[in-house]
Amino acid sequence: MEHTGQVNSMITCRNIGKTFSTKKTSLEVLQKFDLDVKENEFVVLLGPGQCGKTTLMNIIAGLEPPTAGEVLFQGEKVTKPNPGIGMVYQTTGLFPWFTVMKNVDFGPRMKHMPKQERRKKAQHFIDLVGLTGFENSYPIKLSGGMRQRVGIARAYCNDPAVLLMDEPFGHLDAQTRYAMQEVITNIWSREKRTVIFVTNNIEEAVFLADRIILLTNCPTNVKREIRIDLPRPRDYVSKEFLKIREEISEIFESTK
Ligand SMILES: Nc1ncnc2c1ncn2[C@@H]1O[C@H](COP(=O)(O)OP(=O)(O)OP(=O)(O)O)[C@@H](O)[C@H]1O
Ligand SMILES: [Mg+2]
Repeated sequence: MEHTGQVNSMITCRNIGKTFSTKKTSLEVLQKFDLDVKENEFVVLLGPGQCGKTTLMNIIAGLEPPTAGEVLFQGEKVTKPNPGIGMVYQTTGLFPWFTVMKNVDFGPRMKHMPKQERRKKAQHFIDLVGLTGFENSYPIKLSGGMRQRVGIARAYCNDPAVLLMDEPFGHLDAQTRYAMQEVITNIWSREKRTVIFVTNNIEEAVFLADRIILLTNCPTNVKREIRIDLPRPRDYVSKEFLKIREEISEIFESTK
């Protein structure tokens, strides 16, 4: 197998371009986009609406080919979806006919992991996202935030090396959103994984990220990279937090 990327790079985007073309129109969404994400790094892509964030995530996930450049996953070119790259969407796509437990242990079940082992594993992640006691509930009985917790537990239970999260909390109310940001920080602190998280919410980005990649409007490029060194869990109202948030706000506004 050819290895062309840096050893400790999980995801590398090299010179990615994406143009959507029809007979009459052509829209350049990504242009010479470069990104290098290290193992266990929590990277947040922060960009304005419609700038091409989902398109980029789909390309990284191998769901959509770029029109130029390439994505490497652990040094290998991504050409199709890879079980090593998991996704958490805004709508969780849970199976309504399965209980929480059966939704979470779905991946290991498909891989024929023995029942006792996979149940133990699923329980571990159910506990970590704070759903202990809801193992036998069906998704219909759960709130939006709880469903999102199931989606996160399920993604982790598949053991992906990389987790892609595309505005997973975009539709939640503010209170639930804060709670979910804490869930993600908590699970990531214990079960380190490489995460690429998309948002258009500055506060969320500062709360979660090791590194924020600030994106420009279409055709999307990197406007600025900001490393966030604050210890976790972060305090939304600490002086340092508010200062960074303000600084990013100013740069972010100038990207629109
Ligand atoms: N399959 C497609 N065919 C044509 N145009 C597309 C396609 N997918 C996306 N686009 C266009 O590309 C641009 C970027 O879309 P994309 O969904 O990637 O942006 P986004 O940053 O995720 O937006 P949002 O903030 O709404 O989530 C939009 O103008 C969109 O209409
Ligand atoms: Mg999107």
